Amino acid sequence: MMENLLVKLTEKFTKDGQDPETYLKGLLHSKYVNYWDYIQPDTLLSLQKPRTDFPDELTFIVYHQITELVLRLIKHEAQQLCETETDSESYWLEKGARIERYAHLLINSFSIMNKGMSREQYNEFRLSLAPASGFQSAQFRLIEFLFTDIDNLINERGKKRLSANADLNEKLENIYWQDAGKNHETGSKSKTLQDFESKYKSEFLSTLNNYQGKNIFAKINNLKAQGKWSDLLNEQFRKIDKALNIDWPIVHMETAHTYLSSEGETKAATGGSNWVKYLHPKYQRRIYFPNLWTESELANWGN
Ligand code: HEM
Repeated sequence: MMENLLVKLTEKFTKDGQDPETYLKGLLHSKYVNYWDYIQPDTLLSLQKPRTDFPDELTFIVYHQITELVLRLIKHEAQQLCETETDSESYWLEKGARIERYAHLLINSFSIMNKGMSREQYNEFRLSLAPASGFQSAQFRLIEFLFTDIDNLINERGKKRLSANADLNEKLENIYWQDAGKNHETGSKSKTLQDFESKYKSEFLSTLNNYQGKNIFAKINNLKAQGKWSDLLNEQFRKIDKALNIDWPIVHMETAHTYLSSEGETKAATGGSNWVKYLHPKYQRRIYFPNLWTESELANWGN
């Protein structure tokens, strides 16, 4: 057993022109792995920097960070689907189920926001956060570009504004989320939106370019054309669309109402959007896979 292992190690290093002895001697000196070096909890726990003394601000920061980590897992699975050459049903089902579980983790845990902070504290500490907003989460947008074509992220209002040969830049100017901060008549943008774009616009454009023709929506169309898109896959990817584009937006929007609405009045959000209208899925009409829904399901999106 040990000899076999030595032979394999020698083969491995020799193949790369390396001296096996150097590496084996190195093993003599290398330290054991620790949890703290590998998982980096100390770094992770040093990343919460409240701007006020209100205790619930920590809850707010940590839950946003949890969300960013879960988005990272969703992005990780989505990237693999975009890059894969396989049309194996079990592979696509497995990846789809993982993404759905992550989406449900976000939906089921959003009560940490809706119920886990004092309304009074939230409405104080949030005043020190303008013009920042969860709206400025780049991962949230990058995931959209991995899942679907930009054309599916432009709602009917945006489509009416597009010129006949609109390029990616023009499409990005009319993507649904511009409605949170752009006055389409004058072209003026909120500070939140301007800051967001000046930091991420070039990354957005290069990601859009890179994933044209190989995002998940495009891949689904290919599989369909080859007759390899099964009922099970259809069901799985519809669940993802519903979770990310109806259920999460609804729990998020309800939370905004918990903190920012009372007796019919609504407070301005830190990102400055017309949020009561903007956050509703039926207004945004963000649908990753419109080809998996019937006409009447599409017409009733988010109702
Ligand atoms: C008390 C908790 C929260 C409230 C009251 C809230 C409120 C809002 C509001 C009003 C907007 C609209 C943009 C604006 O005017 O600022 C927004 C956008 C957004 N928020 Fe939150 N939010 C909360 C928690 C979170 C959390 C934990 C995340 C996770 C990262 C998040 C992510 C987002 C995203 C991605 C958008 C853009 C949504 C879209 O374009 O569809 N929010 N939020």
